[in-house]
Amino acid sequence: MALAGKRILIIIGGGIAAYKVLELIRRLREAGTEVRVVMTAAAKHFVTELSVASLTGSKVFSDLFSLTDEAEMGHIQLSRNTDLLVVAPATADLLARMAHGLANDLASTLLLATDKKILVAPAMNLRMWLAPATQRNVRTLKNDGVLFVGPEDGDMACGEYGPGRMSEPANILAAIDQALKGNTALPLPPALRREGGALMGKRVIITSGPTHEPIDPVRYIANRSSGKQGHALAAAAAAAGAEVILISGPVALPDPDGVETHRIETALEMRAAVEAALPADIFIGAAAVADWRVANTAEGKIKKGFRPPGFSLVENPDILASVARHGSMRPRLVVGFAAETADVLAHARAKLERKGCDIIVANDVSAGSDVMGSDENQITIVTRAGLEPLPRLRKDEVARRLITRLADLLPSMPEPAPMAKTGSGSDV
Ligand code: PMT
Repeated sequence: MALAGKRILIIIGGGIAAYKVLELIRRLREAGTEVRVVMTAAAKHFVTELSVASLTGSKVFSDLFSLTDEAEMGHIQLSRNTDLLVVAPATADLLARMAHGLANDLASTLLLATDKKILVAPAMNLRMWLAPATQRNVRTLKNDGVLFVGPEDGDMACGEYGPGRMSEPANILAAIDQALKGNTALPLPPALRREGGALMGKRVIITSGPTHEPIDPVRYIANRSSGKQGHALAAAAAAAGAEVILISGPVALPDPDGVETHRIETALEMRAAVEAALPADIFIGAAAVADWRVANTAEGKIKKGFRPPGFSLVENPDILASVARHGSMRPRLVVGFAAETADVLAHARAKLERKGCDIIVANDVSAGSDVMGSDENQITIVTRAGLEPLPRLRKDEVARRLITRLADLLPSMPEPAPMAKTGSGSDV
């Protein structure tokens, strides 16, 4: 993690999710991060300055016109003597003020005056999140380079269900780590996009390669994916004119031309990078994401003893399934891969249903199939309408044909539903 020795300025907004920020601060401090906090007036209704100050070990700032604070360091310095600004919970009101450049309290003044990256973790009632005004503000902020983590779908304090829940502290922590490593989802300059292709004007997110799940600082769990198929898909989508965001695990390949590439290591980092890159028209999960990670990663190298070390595994989040079931930002076309060693098509069909995606691309990775790591692949496109097998081809030709097929299918896909379930009430 890139957190040790870094300085984070957290702006706590006025929402019920503010209590989760206490846990975030605790985790950041454990990771060796220096944390300063600014609270809005509304935030103080949800958490006390005392609890925040005792967790950060330093003064909490909230007054724009505090003579003492101004004499000591100056407000502008507060936002510049930091590596990253994090707004959590980012309420609809705070997002609106940021999008419009308002500076009517300490929080909004710092956000306007900063020259550092900003990561926001929105939290609000689902109707407020889905309101055209909020979505407009979100688009403006994303275009301005502001990074987002969440919101997630789930039960709200008010009894409703849908998008608007603030991301859990572990996910915000992973997004902070990504932002500090420079793996951010800033928009690709239009000059790098190719004109006239079948995916012109479309945004495509692609995952590629393996993930590495650490056991200790020197060892990890991984798989044999080389990233060749995922990277070829990114290049083919860019050649078709799309704005492509490639989220790649550790691979030995160069970043494809004209593609915004983010390098991650673990499944949790991949999920945070995918979340930050949404919304998109198409999502393609070509990565071989590790299904499990080590629960108790050792801080130091595990030494050889009489017995092999025991460690327990916990399941990683299913990135493809969560994108396919994303209430508010489900891409119109969600495509997964199925790497199988037996009963390939039966497993692929089952995955199509279980993960809730629109297409599964089945490939046989059994011993002797020579797919993982090689330059060729033989795929079958599995949809609810049937099977479309392709011959064994070079991976770049597989990618070209698959992207052409997706471009054909895209207009026939239904507009994504705005939310998974609905109810009534408020989260703020
Ligand atoms: O990288 P190469 O060497 O070129 O090889 C290409 C490939 C064989 C790795 C690729 O074509 C492929 O099949 N990728 C998916 C491999 C895989 O992990 O399949 P799976 O059956 O475990 O997962 C099914 C789908 O869910 C995949 O889209 C995967 O990205 C996704 N998934 C899985 C687990 C998880 N926690 N999150 C996910 O999103």
